[in-house]
Amino acid sequence: MHAIGVDIGGSGIKAAPVDLASGKLLAERQKLSTPQPSTPKAVASVVAELTRSFNWSGPVGATFPGVVVDGTTRTAANVDHAWIGLDVRALLAEATRLDVSVVNDADAAGMAEMAFGAGEGVTGTVLMLTFGTGVGSALFTDGTLVPNTEFGHIQIHGTDAEKRASEHARERHGLSWHKWANRMDEYLKHMEALLSPQLIIIGGGVSRKSDKFLPRLNGIRARVVPAAMHNDAGIVGAAMHACPQWTGYKRTRGSETSVP
Ligand code: BGC
Repeated sequence: MHAIGVDIGGSGIKAAPVDLASGKLLAERQKLSTPQPSTPKAVASVVAELTRSFNWSGPVGATFPGVVVDGTTRTAANVDHAWIGLDVRALLAEATRLDVSVVNDADAAGMAEMAFGAGEGVTGTVLMLTFGTGVGSALFTDGTLVPNTEFGHIQIHGTDAEKRASEHARERHGLSWHKWANRMDEYLKHMEALLSPQLIIIGGGVSRKSDKFLPRLNGIRARVVPAAMHNDAGIVGAAMHACPQWTGYKRTRGSETSVP
């Protein structure tokens, strides 16, 4: 079973066809810049350009960096506010003339990590956190996603957690890795107090630099690991979401497994 995954981010829009049995990309991913301003119409036409470039006629899954319920967005913390309350599924389906599904970006990355990456086979509570422009979250219990958790917006010292602890905040405030790791440590302790996960997976660009911050975390009881799929997780998870009949990720639960 194959689907195209499209990962819509603040600076780039990446896409590739994905083989859902293996989680591998079937062709080299294509990346185009996110139009500025990132209005829905402008972004939709870039998504259509990408699907056309693969000569695709099958299902398409797209990520969005905000809450998505039934294809409609409810928030847009880091993109143009024209996205709020929009039927993105209909917009992208019209632009691409294909069947499209839409999923929160962190939820997509988490789904991919649970099926093929750092969370593969892990039962109990798993929390995936992505550190980029914002902080995204994906919560799993025995491999099942609780969608749209938005833990990047819990308040720490009266401020949105993502304003203090995102990768963007590290760059904008010129924080040393040491200082940023302290902020991440404080944030993870809050999350641990709320959820007591067995495993915390750290995703986003920083997952490639985990040696800069993982050794500085102190007193977190959960196992904390970097994401294994790095930048491909969003694409793969979006493609998984496009095929709800695909149940391969339930591998984590043992017997109900089937990878068509
Ligand atoms: C948004 C989340 C998103 C995260 C990462 C946050 O600001 O509210 O929905 O997952 O950024 O992009």
